Amino acid sequence: MSHIRGRFQKDADKLVAQYTASVPYDARLYRQDIAGSIAHARMLARQGIVTAKEAKEIVAGLESIRQEIELGKFRFKPELEDIHMNIEARLMELAGDAGGKLHTARSRNDQVALDMRLYVKDTIAETVAGIKELQKEIIGLAEANKTAVMPGYTHLQQAQPVLFAHHLLAYFEMLQRDTGRFADCLRRTDVMPLGSGAVAGVAYNIDRESVARELGFSEVSRNSMDAVSDRDFVVEYQAAASLCMMHLSRLAEELVLWSTAEFGFIEIDEAYATGSSIMPQKKNPDVAELARGKTGRVYGNLMAMLTTLKGLPLSYNRDLQEDKEGLFDTVDTLLSTLEVFTGMVKTLRIKPENMKKALAQDYILATDMADYLVKKGEAFRSAHGIVARLVSHAIEKGKFLKELSIAEYKGFSPMFGDDVYSITVESSLAARNVTGGTAPGQVKKALADAKRLLEASGGGK
Ligand code: ARG
Repeated sequence: MSHIRGRFQKDADKLVAQYTASVPYDARLYRQDIAGSIAHARMLARQGIVTAKEAKEIVAGLESIRQEIELGKFRFKPELEDIHMNIEARLMELAGDAGGKLHTARSRNDQVALDMRLYVKDTIAETVAGIKELQKEIIGLAEANKTAVMPGYTHLQQAQPVLFAHHLLAYFEMLQRDTGRFADCLRRTDVMPLGSGAVAGVAYNIDRESVARELGFSEVSRNSMDAVSDRDFVVEYQAAASLCMMHLSRLAEELVLWSTAEFGFIEIDEAYATGSSIMPQKKNPDVAELARGKTGRVYGNLMAMLTTLKGLPLSYNRDLQEDKEGLFDTVDTLLSTLEVFTGMVKTLRIKPENMKKALAQDYILATDMADYLVKKGEAFRSAHGIVARLVSHAIEKGKFLKELSIAEYKGFSPMFGDDVYSITVESSLAARNVTGGTAPGQVKKALADAKRLLEASGGGK
């Protein structure tokens, strides 16, 4: 019978043992659990709560357990419930009486809170690095295709010409905000809960600050009841991950659309596409589709966590063990999506000639034509009406705008002159010379700014 069953005469029902066990998934916290225990043991020795010799035995035991786990030699026992008890039980085998002292001035409630915080902190660093790698490839693709022009869409209808690089840099911005959200989440995750004990704090003269320092935390928690029951940081990570996946899903959707025969703006590299089991001609954008699909799962994990927390009385409740699987699933999904997108963007082939072809229907220059009349003195609202009539006239005649005669133009407004023919895709781009606009000079500056931002935050090696 396991030592946590304390006052019980009976073993747990078999099914109950299975139902309550978390070690099948929380084993992944072993590194954080061991690091936390080592810091705790050393502090106990510094405070004279255990002897230096005992602490040494504990630390040595924990280090060899870590090795056993990493070498795949550790035997996880589900009947010991979780990673904490599995490690502690093994420590008692390895370090005997000293091992039994590790849990002095600690509860699994503050221990698991610590492990989760350490894990989320590590994961945020990995996530931000993954985002930066993708941003780097987005910048690279934009730079390599600086002159490619494509239709900018609103309502998925051709709206105004834009540089392809401008379109791509929109995703740089989304990902930059994601990085900011993870950094913000880190500030609230970076709080050391150990010392909160089960609920009320511990009855020993411990030194929480030194544990925080050793583990790299910026502060210690201020309220023991909050510290053992708070999982806001898990929700915050999942919320930031949901937004990030949403961005990747929007990019995925565009890649799916752009790689159709109808658009033909891009070609996804074979390494990132799949074939069909029946239609030999197919090259399917499954990676992008799966990213779009997995976004739903990540949202689901966020909603599950929020729902688990709702209505929990203070402080620790076993419900909190449900914080793990959803979080781990979200982490795995987000990190792998970022990684696979980095490769997919890196190998993407752009077809600027097809983007240009899509612009040949020059009604996309209608706004420029209205702007032209405004510059000649027309009020924008009436210029809009004039050009709207002009466009219907052209469509009716089966002509593009550039094919209309000057007489036809003048029939709609006497302000039209020969210079109306100098309205082109290029002039349209150049005219949008405002900060954040698609004029080539602005996009060049935006690219330089993006690179600088990435380098300043340690990305884009
Ligand atoms: N496996 C538990 C969890 O993940 C650890 C804490 C258990 N504490 C307790 N008092 N049963 O939440």
